[in-house]
Amino acid sequence: MRGLCQRLALYLALCLSLLLYVTPASAASVLAIDYGADYIKASLMKPGLPFDVLLNKDSKRKIHSSVAWKNGERLFGQDAYNLAARKPQDTYNHMKYLLGAPANADIVTYYNQISTSTLVASSRFTVAVPQPGGRTWDVEELVAAQLAYIRQLATDAAGEPVRDAVITVPPFFSQFERDALADAAELAGLKLITLVSDSAGVAINFAITRQFTSTPEYHVIFDAGGSSTRASVVGFSQDAKSKSLQVALKGVGWDRIVSGTEFTRRLRDMLLQEFTKKHPSVDIRADKRAMARIWKEADRVKGILSANNDAVSHVESLIDEIDFRTKISRTDFEAKCKDLAPSFAKPLSDALASANLTMNDIKSVILFGGNTRVPMMRRALDAAAGADKIAVNVNADEAAVLGAALHGASLSHSFRTKDIKLIDVLPYDVQVAYAAEAKDGGASGRTIHSTAFASGSKTGTRKTMSFKRHDDFNLAFQYKQAIAPGYPTEFLETRVEGVKEALANITAEGGSEPVIKATLALSESGFISVPEAVAVADAKDDSIAGKLKGFFGDKASSSSESVNETPTASETAAKSTKTLSIPLTVSVKYPTVAPMSLEQKREARTRLQEQEAKEAAIAMREEQRNGLEGYLYRMRDLINADEQTPFVKCSKPSERAAISKTLEEVQEWFHEHQDTADTKTLLEKRGLLQILENPIQHRYKEIEEFPSALNESQKWNFHTRMFLKEAVANLTKEEEEGIEGKFTREELEGITKTLEEHETWLAQKVEAQRKVKMDEDPAVETKEMRERAKVLELHLQRLIGKKPPRRKIPSTSASASFTTPASSSTATSSTRAGGHEEL
Ligand SMILES: Nc1ncnc2c1ncn2[C@@H]1O[C@H](COP(=O)(O)OP(=O)(O)OP(=O)(O)O)[C@@H](O)[C@H]1O
Ligand SMILES: [Mg+2]
Repeated sequence: MRGLCQRLALYLALCLSLLLYVTPASAASVLAIDYGADYIKASLMKPGLPFDVLLNKDSKRKIHSSVAWKNGERLFGQDAYNLAARKPQDTYNHMKYLLGAPANADIVTYYNQISTSTLVASSRFTVAVPQPGGRTWDVEELVAAQLAYIRQLATDAAGEPVRDAVITVPPFFSQFERDALADAAELAGLKLITLVSDSAGVAINFAITRQFTSTPEYHVIFDAGGSSTRASVVGFSQDAKSKSLQVALKGVGWDRIVSGTEFTRRLRDMLLQEFTKKHPSVDIRADKRAMARIWKEADRVKGILSANNDAVSHVESLIDEIDFRTKISRTDFEAKCKDLAPSFAKPLSDALASANLTMNDIKSVILFGGNTRVPMMRRALDAAAGADKIAVNVNADEAAVLGAALHGASLSHSFRTKDIKLIDVLPYDVQVAYAAEAKDGGASGRTIHSTAFASGSKTGTRKTMSFKRHDDFNLAFQYKQAIAPGYPTEFLETRVEGVKEALANITAEGGSEPVIKATLALSESGFISVPEAVAVADAKDDSIAGKLKGFFGDKASSSSESVNETPTASETAAKSTKTLSIPLTVSVKYPTVAPMSLEQKREARTRLQEQEAKEAAIAMREEQRNGLEGYLYRMRDLINADEQTPFVKCSKPSERAAISKTLEEVQEWFHEHQDTADTKTLLEKRGLLQILENPIQHRYKEIEEFPSALNESQKWNFHTRMFLKEAVANLTKEEEEGIEGKFTREELEGITKTLEEHETWLAQKVEAQRKVKMDEDPAVETKEMRERAKVLELHLQRLIGKKPPRRKIPSTSASASFTTPASSSTATSSTRAGGHEEL
């Protein structure tokens, strides 16, 4: 209970602080998605909406990261997760594991152990999933479908299309995995503001309600999730000058296997072992349905064991009508995970080592992720960090997505947020390989490896590398160490092209000692690329400006963004030189796992849109089917109602007979065709009855409306009469006194005519209506009554709004002091009571 209150208080504090820190600069919205292997959490930041986690249609704050096929339609969240027990091959969970994975990577073998679904290799030798009875979808396409589902939730909440998104990734995600997720986001119609590490999201969420000084305060974000465990050392400080909050990631550590999924896998194996002990002749592992059900049960039992010493597992009719029941103790479960125990807290020590810090430098270890609720994890962390340093002061499920939303908002420029500067880091050493050039300008056959970005490099930075080259050359990027078993290390090959032509141009311009400068970028999202390359050289500057520059010295600084570039001849040359710079072409090749090509993305987008359109059509048909079913019930009730009901009173027996006959026909048709009929036919069938029902409903509606329409018409007749009485009297007096009145006689005659016409018309219609029976159509439509009353009202308002003539001597009895009734739509203040005149 105390924990709940504490969490509530924290949550309220966060909401309050966000109100203070976030104000909209314009009306765009930002969607943050924490794409977990087990649960997706999303948050929408939109002016006018409370900043919170997005709920799905079942009001769930965390959404099962599952997608399934049912009768050609896709299911998401809980619906998809639940389907696994009945249709195990049609349900896909934990797709995150497969993002950017080569089809033969160890993680694919692992996935096959935890899943009952089928995987195949895609055309890019990544992973694809066959739809039962349908086509095969790349993993990116199914993840895109999940993201599009979240986008739709956001769009529904925002009431407008939501496009801009920030998505969280584990800090250890390689370029392969980042590419795959970015492709999925693109297919889902999202515009990626940035990828952000989930630890960074948690760190921002933690920092937003706290104060820091200029001396960095170090904390560790320990995220034990469904697919992995990771720790990030984060330094929090406030910039002394700008007062901006600095959130700087200093080092990361991770384990790709220790996870909630692995715990569930081990518990599942314990249950399987128990089952096989009791039923040795039953091959439960061969039964996908039973395997899916026992997985779900293992996950449930795992949760119970976090709070209890033992748990009873019970699955009815698990396989071959066998009811499975067993008891699992926490001690046995922990024994089953014993070999993993040394790895539980290892990400923490790895993160400290990579940040070059010790536990003594750390103020607290902030727990995040569902797997931190497992007692053996907690004990391992208590032992590694000291129990007093363990902090449970962020929401273990939502902190990452809320922090990511704040970060996205600050980057989108649509909001004014508290000034937070996030500095994230690359967790791997990335080196660049290129062929050394022989002295004669040809290929030497030797490959040079040099560090492109060392682990710990800040994201969002660029550097320039200079090369002496005479011809086109390749820059191949690779991770220095293996990122995960079965993944290649080479991920990107760029070719700098057009070198010969550029050098020839430089020579023609009088340039000497040309060098090729390639810009290497490590983006905010953690992608490495070569955005540009140029050939540069100095040439003698014969222009007058050049000569003057040479005389006085050039104070202008180099425009290069280089962070570690070797000084070239151009920077040390005499000042009477000019710099020649010729852009080169940089082409890209993927030597191993390729992201989707533009063409593949286009095709995938089309396929997804076709699927969405198909599902929308199915949903529409279903809506019409349900609508018609309800309508038929309603019509049956109306027809069979007693004589005192409005429907019977307002309809003739012949009309009801006609409805009865059509109703019977439509009902009969419905029972036979309801599952196959298309939307158009369903609508047509409904239309057959509606055409008969509408006149009756119209009569009733008119009867109901008539008194108020009549009242409105009479009200304006009355007000106009009152006005005329006073205005005519005033005018007569003014004429006698020889002064100019507010209204002319023609004006008053004009409104008298409008009034009399309206009165006459109304009297005739009211008389005619009086003779109309309830089951007959009205003699006058209330719509027309209101329109005619409006004509009179506007005429009156026009006169009342008229400015009175200027008078030298104020008179106390001059103009009409009539004001329009309170209900008037165009209230005026032409003449106040007591005879005050407006200027
Ligand atoms: N009380 C609990 N006891 C044991 N395990 C729990 C408990 N609550 C949640 N979990 C486990 O935590 C995991 C989900 O945690 P979380 O939502 O942080 O993961 P995720 O964000 O989906 O995964 P990831 O970020 O690693 O991709 C699941 O394996 C779930 O079984
Ligand atoms: Mg997570």
